[in-house]
Amino acid sequence: MAKADVLLGLQWGDEGKGKIVDVLTKNYDIIARFQGGPNAGHTLEFDGIKHVLHTIPSGIFHKGIVNLIGNGVVIDPVIFENEINSIDKLNLDISELLISKKAHLILPTHKLLDAASEKAKGKNKIGSTLKGIGPTYMDKTGRNGLRVGDINSSDFDLKYNKLKNKHLQLLKFYDFEYNLDELESTWMNSLETIKKFKHIDSEHYIHQNLKEGKKILAEGAQGTLLDIDFGSYPFVTSSNTITAGACTGLGIAPNQISDVFGIFKAYCTRVGSGPFPTELNDDIGEHLGKVGNEFGATTGRARRCGWIDLPALKYAININGVTQLMMMKSDVLSGIKTIKVCTHYIDSNNQKINYLPFEDNDKLTPVYEELSGWDKNLMEISDLNEAPKEVHDYIEYLENQLKVPIKIISVGPDRKQTLFR
Ligand code: GDP
Ligand code: IMO
Ligand code: MG
Repeated sequence: MAKADVLLGLQWGDEGKGKIVDVLTKNYDIIARFQGGPNAGHTLEFDGIKHVLHTIPSGIFHKGIVNLIGNGVVIDPVIFENEINSIDKLNLDISELLISKKAHLILPTHKLLDAASEKAKGKNKIGSTLKGIGPTYMDKTGRNGLRVGDINSSDFDLKYNKLKNKHLQLLKFYDFEYNLDELESTWMNSLETIKKFKHIDSEHYIHQNLKEGKKILAEGAQGTLLDIDFGSYPFVTSSNTITAGACTGLGIAPNQISDVFGIFKAYCTRVGSGPFPTELNDDIGEHLGKVGNEFGATTGRARRCGWIDLPALKYAININGVTQLMMMKSDVLSGIKTIKVCTHYIDSNNQKINYLPFEDNDKLTPVYEELSGWDKNLMEISDLNEAPKEVHDYIEYLENQLKVPIKIISVGPDRKQTLFR
């Protein structure tokens, strides 16, 4: 019996999950997305091509690998169709892309509800990607959802209309203008694309494959601090982004999980609203955004940037049971004279604390330690031995603090710009 590995983000998303899944895919038989939906944007770069995936797992560019969209994922058939069309241009074999019958569908009215809800929140808005994620998961837990396995059933229209009519009632509560007709016809047409793929009982498929000794990598979306339970609520997404999400989002038992790969940036970013204790509203924050090209892969919004936050990372490591760390975007720190690392916070009662409390996360003042920076452009190196001493000092400092080995150092967006330790 084989065990599955899990790869997920330890910060507020966009850590570089897509890139690393692509790098690791050659070691696996199956890559399986376990939660989230097209709020995700996973970027891969190779052979001069840059590709952004939203729903499709990041193993899709490798031959002979099965890519599975798990039951925990929510799918917008229109976005899925667009993704398939852009992959088709690359002449890839995508016949081995499988979809769980239990994955929930994002309806056009879910997107309208998302937009209406955000508008009603005004300045307290979540900063949602407006892809309909929250309303779709609400219908899932409210036991009203429509699933991929329903698409081919004879009562699909009945189920669709029932749910749509419920949404139209809800939309009456909001002062929100919309035009559903075009959205709806595009959505209905896009079902033809999703129908072309195999819809399967994915948990059964996973159990069979684990039994046969096949290697599975579960790919997360978003990040631990956006988790519905453990993130900075309510400024979070609507799914469990943590290792436990791989259990519920694929049907893998906890004792069938082996390695948990935790990905983090050498600094920190966040897109959307909510507390961010180490955020930098200064020249360095601007520098990180510019050099790191920190613009959302899904919405194009500028990402907020700041220093690395160790209490938050330790929290994420504990919740996920991380066994190996991967540090991304190390190259972006080049040229910064002094690098700061947040080791503690001062809370609203003026107490020094080393964890994220329930209260007033937006009032935490970070306490920093300082490390020397480096000038060398890390994008040009192909071996860690070529990195300046300060890079090694930074890695070792973090490892000592986090107590988990850092196995990969990423020094650029390309597949090849990946250094192993
Ligand atoms: P994901 O959502 O976790 O897959 O990450 P995104 O794709 O949203 O954001 C990561 C961004 O950083 C993408 O534009 C990547 O191409 C880029 N990237 C990944 N690793 C590195 C790196 O080591 N250095 C630099 N400069 N860019 C990177
Ligand atoms: P990947 O997988 C970064 C953020 C949004 C917003 C909050 C809720 O690319 O790392 P939602 O659309 O889920 O209702 O938005 O979560 N968010 C992400 N931020 N990366 C993502 O995915 C994100 N998915 C959602 O910006 O603050
Ligand atoms: Mg992303």
